[in-house]
Parts: sequence; C-alpha cells; structure tokens
Amino acid sequence: LLVNASQGSSRKMPENLFGVAFEEINHAGAGGLWGELVNNRGFESGGLHSPSSIIPWSIIGNYSVVRLITDLSSCFKRNPVALRMEVLCDSEGDNACPDGGVGVYNPGYWGMNIEQGKTYKLVLYIRSVDSINVTVSLTDSTGVQALATANIIDTDVSNWKKIEIALEATATNHNSRLQLTTSRKGVVWFDQVSLMPIDTFKGHGYRNDLFKLVADLKPGFLRFPGGSFIEGKSLINAYWWKSTVGPWEERPGHLGDVWSYWTDDGLGYFEFLQLAEDLGASPIWVVNSGFSQEEAVSLPNIGFLVQDVLDGIEFARGDPSSTWGSVRADMGHTQPFDLKHIAIGNQDCWHGNYRANYLKFYAAIKKAYPDIKVISNCDGSNSKLDHPAELYDYHAYADANTMFSMGHKFDGTSRNGPKAFVSEYAVSYNNAPRGNLLIALAEAGFLIGIEKNSDVVDMASKAPLFLNANTNGFKPDAIVFDSYRTYGTPSYWMQQFFSKSNGATLLNSALKTNSSNSLIASSIWLYNQVDSTNYLRVKVVNYGSNKVNLKIAFEGLDPQLIDYSKSSKTVLSSTNVNDENSFQNPTKVYPVNSSLKKSKNGINVILSPNSLSCF
Ligand code: AHR
Repeated sequence: LLVNASQGSSRKMPENLFGVAFEEINHAGAGGLWGELVNNRGFESGGLHSPSSIIPWSIIGNYSVVRLITDLSSCFKRNPVALRMEVLCDSEGDNACPDGGVGVYNPGYWGMNIEQGKTYKLVLYIRSVDSINVTVSLTDSTGVQALATANIIDTDVSNWKKIEIALEATATNHNSRLQLTTSRKGVVWFDQVSLMPIDTFKGHGYRNDLFKLVADLKPGFLRFPGGSFIEGKSLINAYWWKSTVGPWEERPGHLGDVWSYWTDDGLGYFEFLQLAEDLGASPIWVVNSGFSQEEAVSLPNIGFLVQDVLDGIEFARGDPSSTWGSVRADMGHTQPFDLKHIAIGNQDCWHGNYRANYLKFYAAIKKAYPDIKVISNCDGSNSKLDHPAELYDYHAYADANTMFSMGHKFDGTSRNGPKAFVSEYAVSYNNAPRGNLLIALAEAGFLIGIEKNSDVVDMASKAPLFLNANTNGFKPDAIVFDSYRTYGTPSYWMQQFFSKSNGATLLNSALKTNSSNSLIASSIWLYNQVDSTNYLRVKVVNYGSNKVNLKIAFEGLDPQLIDYSKSSKTVLSSTNVNDENSFQNPTKVYPVNSSLKKSKNGINVILSPNSLSCF
C-alpha cells in the first residue's frame, strides 16, 4: 500500500460523514432505548376507540371476580380510552377476594428490568365513585415475589386524579411486572400508567446502556424516526409529529403498522431532537412526503403536509414566543435545536407524484429556511437529479459479496451534482443472521469506499441500528438487547473503526497487489488535540480467506519519523467468517489491540484472513 502523505494530496472529509439511523423498528424505541417500562400505558393499543386492546395487560384473578374492559372515559381528549376495572369480590366475608387481591398486571416489553436499590417513578391516573384502596407493586413474572409495593388509599377520586409514587426495588428481577390490585368491591378506572427508571441518561428518558453504545460510535448525525416507519402502511398510521409532542399523557400513540406494533410515542419528535443533541449529532428529520406504503395524499392536499413540516421546523428552531417554538419551550428546551437537514420521504421516488410533492416541500422550506439542506429520495448516483436538492437519499441493501464490491459504487459518480446521503446500508437478505463477521467485513469495504468518495458522499449510516432480541425483527443490526443485556454485533464493532473519520483528512493511497478483488484500504490523518500529535490511520479489509503480507510505504513522510511507542494495530477477525456475538459470548468477534512492530522503510504487517485491520 503506497500512502501519499504529502500536503496537496489530501482532502478533508465531511464533519458528519458517519452517523446513525434510528428507526422505530425491532422495538428500538418502545421497549428499547426509551426507558418506559409499561407497554400500552394508555390501554389504546387496539386504536383510539372502544373496545380497544389492553394487550399485554392481563387479569389477576378471573372473570368471576374481576372484569376488565375499555371505555372512552379518559380525561385526555386525544387518547380517550381508559381501563374500567370492576371488582366483584370484597375484602371479607363469603365473597372475599383471593389473597393479594384481584386486578391487572403489565409485563412490559418481555419483562421489566427491575434492579435492587434503584428507584422507579410510577405515574398513573385513577378514578372511582367510591373510596379506593389499590396496591401497586413490582413483582417477579408470576406475581409471587414483591420487589416494591405501595398503597393508594384515597377517599376522593371521583374526578380523575394523577398519582405519582417513587418505588424503590428491594431485589433484582429482569423479568418483572407491574401489578395494580385491590380487594375492595367496586369500579376503578385507570389511565396513562407509566413506570420509568429514575436513572436514565441525564434524566432525559434514554436507557443508559443503549445510549452509551450509540454514543461510543461518535455519530455525526442522527437520522430519525425512519425508515418505513414514517410512511406507515396506511396514512393514518404514518408518523405525524404533532401527535408526539407535549405532555406524554396527552399523546395518542399510534400503531407502527409497517412493523406491526403499537408505540405510545413517549419517544416523540422532541425526544428525538433531544437525543441528537445529547449525542452531539446533527438531527436529520425524515418527513412523510405524502405517501404511505398503500395510500397517497392527493396533490391539492399536499399543502397541509408542507405546512405541517414548516410547523415542525418552527417547533425545533423557532423563537420561544412563536406558536410551535413555545410548545418546545414549554417542554423545557428554550434554546432552538440545531435542525439543518430535512429528508422528504423514505424510498418514495418511484411514486409518480413524488417529484411534484417534493417540489412543493422544497420551495416552501427553502423560502422560510434557506439554510436547511433538503434531501430528495431520488437517486443521483448514476445520473444528475432532475430537481433541486442539496443531497439525495441512497439505500444500499445487498448480499455480502455485492456490498463489498460496492466499495467502488461512487467511484464513477459525477463530482458536480448534489451529494449522497447513504442513510441506510446493510448486508441484508432473507433469514440473515443477527450479524456476523462476513457481514461486518463487507460493510467495512463499503465504508472504506465511502471515505474515498467522501467528496460525493456526505453522510452514511447503517440500518437498522437496534434489535430487541425478543422480536424476530429486521436483521442484521448493530446493537442487540433485551430488558437488561446488550451486545454489539460485528457490524457494531466494525463501525467503531470509522468513529474517528468524521472531519479527518483523507490521503491518497493505492494498493499495489494482485489480490485487489479481496482488499480495500484507506488512509487518513487525524490530529489529536490531547497530545498534539498527528496520527496516520490506515484501514484495510482483507475479504479473502488467505493471509496477506502487506507493506505500507509512504510518499511525503519519512518512516523514521513514526513514533512506534504511540502506534498500534487493531484487528477485527475470528476463526470463522460466520461467527456471531451473543449474550453468552458478546465479544467472540471483537477488536483486538496489539503493538505495532518497528520496521525499516515503512511498515510490514500480516493481514489475517477475513479481517478488518487498523494501523
Ligand atoms: O432499515 C429497515 C427498512 O429498510 C427501512 O425501514 C426501509 O427504509 C428499508 O426498506
């Protein structure tokens, strides 16, 4: 590998080149990053009508002693459904309730993670014509072992009353549930029952362990909230931001019908903007362009959607005295969020009306906010776009060999048009594993190609980011988790090799080899402010199954100047290219560091078979 380290042969790469794409898919947010432990807190998962569905809430007792139905008696206008619990047994006598009472429990998302010594904030709304004596408890999955208990005893709940209780757990159980029980005859209504750990990232609601894994990637941007999630199968189930802001109790929630699960939208538009800020990432908001997967908004009505997006930008950036800026300020963020990118739609270019819709969004956004970069769904990688855009969205899903060869995808792209936003890339095929070494190496080859073409590719992110292991979701992914455990797939650790690339300087480098079909390499300069040192980083993927002896030689740099005490080698590899990580063995495929041996006139290294190396 010949690296040209002389000035004049280098180019600065975009500051936000590598980032993350968050989509509400695979329970990434609901039952994932978002700390809410109650699943279907408003009893609305069957829709905003009655009967709705209370799943996964379940009965404690049986139908002869307690009856659970939904009705429309909530105090919240936008989410009218409440749970009506009629208790037929009593505290004593012939008709006494079973020990422990009767009621309802919520298992969360495949069990709640309750940890000893930690505090959980329970909020619920309750109403009854009689006085109440309700026990709230966190228990094991059978309801036998109590981990925390409190009583709500009240004589006046004839109007809806908000109850807040801090529950401190006395034991740990990763598969817990929340119970609401009573032994008093009568009717009690419940609504908006929420349980959140007090300990979330900065108190902002994000699960600490999952937040950290994302933050460790040092993402330059956060694309949200989808993906197909923003389209919905039907327009009614698309992502409409106004339903996801304001007090959490008042949010209606919606069915993400593309991925077939309900979300309470606790992780709403505000929380996404906050997440981007907390990650130090630039927010990229993807809006519905007038299409769901099965329906379309007629052109005359697109104006309403355009106004909706303008309102959303005002929410994010507007003055606190503006109509929507004031809603943001009321939610605790007086300062504007740094929203500078809007993507119009997701994979929508094929729709006949897409361009017409797009142009309406583009004109209105540019008129009101000229600095915002607008991202088109149409592919500009092979030929120039026929409409104005700062960026075009490009999705790359392919089998491993194709993905590796796509390291050269943008070599021939015109250097003059709008740049690419590769907002979704992944090795993906039917029945793909959760992620293995082969997938990671193919994706690494693609990313090295993106570094080299970062004059025409501005940003790139892998999708999906998360997988809740209890779902048979869209695979492969970067981070796998359940209620309390996490692990990074090989693709996650692969991305860490690129976490220092944002804003670094790309050097010209050329492989002189006859195994060029299985090798790809890039070289960058990094200035480290901590020790005021320039670091050269060479990344090489050996996609072949043979080891390779590689000499790294330099132009414009005397190899004698390399400080070997500060040099190292990091390798991602494994004995088998199909190796995966798991909860049991989370680091089977994991980057291994070692020192770099001093050699004359350059660096001589051995590239292991099927490996990603960084020197
Ligand atoms: O990343 C998963 C899905 O793949 C996205 O929702 C969609 O944009 C793509 O088809």
